[in-house]
Amino acid sequence: MHETNKKVITVGVTGASGAVLAQKMLAMLDADSRVERIHLVITETGHRLLAEELQMTGVAIGQMAQRITGHHSTKIEILPNKDVGASIASGSYAVDAMAVIPCSVGTLAKIAAGTCDDLVARAADVMLKESRKLVLCIRDTPFSRIHLENMLRAKQAGAVIMPAIPAFYHRPETIDDLVTQYVCRVLAQMDLPQSAMFRWTGSAAAKEAKA
Ligand SMILES: Cc1cc2nc3c(=O)[nH]c(=O)nc-3n(C[C@H](O)[C@H](O)[C@H](O)COP(=O)(O)O)c2cc1C
Repeated sequence: MHETNKKVITVGVTGASGAVLAQKMLAMLDADSRVERIHLVITETGHRLLAEELQMTGVAIGQMAQRITGHHSTKIEILPNKDVGASIASGSYAVDAMAVIPCSVGTLAKIAAGTCDDLVARAADVMLKESRKLVLCIRDTPFSRIHLENMLRAKQAGAVIMPAIPAFYHRPETIDDLVTQYVCRVLAQMDLPQSAMFRWTGSAAAKEAKA
């Protein structure tokens, strides 16, 4: 979609558990030569989760991308969640795909209702109205009827519902193995398949044969 054929991606980070998923996704996008721009929006509670789970306490917004990816990133642009007039709030700005990772059930409710009162919700709403790829990595458990109905509503509007549920068929040995496989599946949905993704071919023995 973008003029250079390289992708522009939006990543929303909300206040659900799983900050490590956002960290992994941003690192993989940053390292991906097919991606030229990453717009990152973190909700207020998203910042709290980054602090709680990744000890990113008191990190200035300007340093956030560096702390997340481990180096100075020229691709990541952090946009304030209050700025509903940012580029990604308009359908005329070309974004190829957006993930909300992790996605709280609160932000899911906003997206399902079309409530555009912050930039994460507005950018997601734009993706749906423009028929672009939106992946919602919802994290909570158990789900209430309200959560399930909101997921159905978002799905029917065009979103991909991808709860943060890890797979075990690739025989993970570390948390990073679990996180990487999940994030690879999300990136595949965003048309960014990764070589690190384990692909089931009928038996996990295929992985052993490869190693
Ligand atoms: C430590 C912590 C963990 C949380 N975990 C979750 C969670 O896993 N899923 C969820 O939907 N909400 C979770 N919440 C609650 C949300 O952060 C809260 O509903 C918030 O209003 C969501 O706002 P946001 O979507 O704008 O980030 C958590 C809150 C805290 C402080």
